[in-house]
Amino acid sequence: SDQSVFDVDVWTLTRFVMEMGRQAKGATGELTQLINSMLTAIKAISSAVRKAGLVHLQGIAGQVNVTGDEQKKLDVLSNDLIINMLRASYGSCLMVSEENKDAIYTLAEKRGKYIVCFDPLDGSSNIDCLAPIGTIFAIYKRTDETSDGEPTDKDALQPGNQIVCAGYALYGSATLVALSTGAGVNFFMLDPAIGEFILTDRNVKIKKKGKTYSINEGYAKYFEPAVNDYLKHKKYPEDGSAPYSARYVGSMVSDIHRTIAYGGIFMYPANEKNPKGKLRLLYECNPIAFLIEQAGGIATTGTQRVLDVIPESLHQRLPFVVGSPDDVEEYLSFVKKHK
Ligand code: AHM
Ligand code: MG
Repeated sequence: SDQSVFDVDVWTLTRFVMEMGRQAKGATGELTQLINSMLTAIKAISSAVRKAGLVHLQGIAGQVNVTGDEQKKLDVLSNDLIINMLRASYGSCLMVSEENKDAIYTLAEKRGKYIVCFDPLDGSSNIDCLAPIGTIFAIYKRTDETSDGEPTDKDALQPGNQIVCAGYALYGSATLVALSTGAGVNFFMLDPAIGEFILTDRNVKIKKKGKTYSINEGYAKYFEPAVNDYLKHKKYPEDGSAPYSARYVGSMVSDIHRTIAYGGIFMYPANEKNPKGKLRLLYECNPIAFLIEQAGGIATTGTQRVLDVIPESLHQRLPFVVGSPDDVEEYLSFVKKHK
């Protein structure tokens, strides 16, 4: 085979994270270790999502579980993987997971200075139909004032503007990681041949304006008039422009990744049934808002910048509208008109 097409100086995500860690002033390597542990968990989740090793679990005939154990559900397995990997990284003192009602504290001897909020497997309603699903995470540093004593839940209630690093993994037709430490967004694609993520898109920027809107329009009956008015405008533009396309996977990572890659708007606004919307501030809205802003987009609740919301509880929900700056601004103009 032609050896010359083999890149011998490739930017893997591991290399990228190590390099960033080296260049950060006063860095101890703790964040690097933490992020790399998260990425290892993501690789394992990706493998589980793609049913790798099924033959061992199910037997050739496909129905018997050879060990006789009940197979772990994918979301539980993903959660356990992340918690164990992060604990073993010595980088975190506190975790908040969508799967756990209470915050998870690391044993004192394994503690580090970071707080990680994550949704181990978002889009769970898509698992059984094999549509894309994802992992979302945000990393914060413990605040100085509290760093002497024991960590408390309050350490996890920092606004998104304090995020040190955020990312998502998309288990789609390929596995991709989007990552930002506050200097733009980069995309990395998993190359299963070497089990590493490869840098494929550097400093990604979202289009100023897209051609797609993404919302669960089945809730139209319960939306506020501003939302329905905006949607009507997208479908029946008064100014002679082309109507927008509708796209909604129902897996936020998938809908968000398309929005960053192609432009457009993603919305999960409040509705009568869910007056705060559905998505959770700490591990769904904030990390995505951080990435969207780093890509040059806007993330709003409709009345406020998402990253400036002061969290009050670990699992609180938030109305969420993000995307291309012109599209989100246009939505906000409808909100204003209806005030
Ligand atoms: P989950 O954490 O239970 O998977 O719910 C979050 C998901 C998001 O990925 C997606 O944007 C949203 O729920 C879809 O909700 P709906 O089915 O109400 O449109
Ligand atoms: Mg979720």
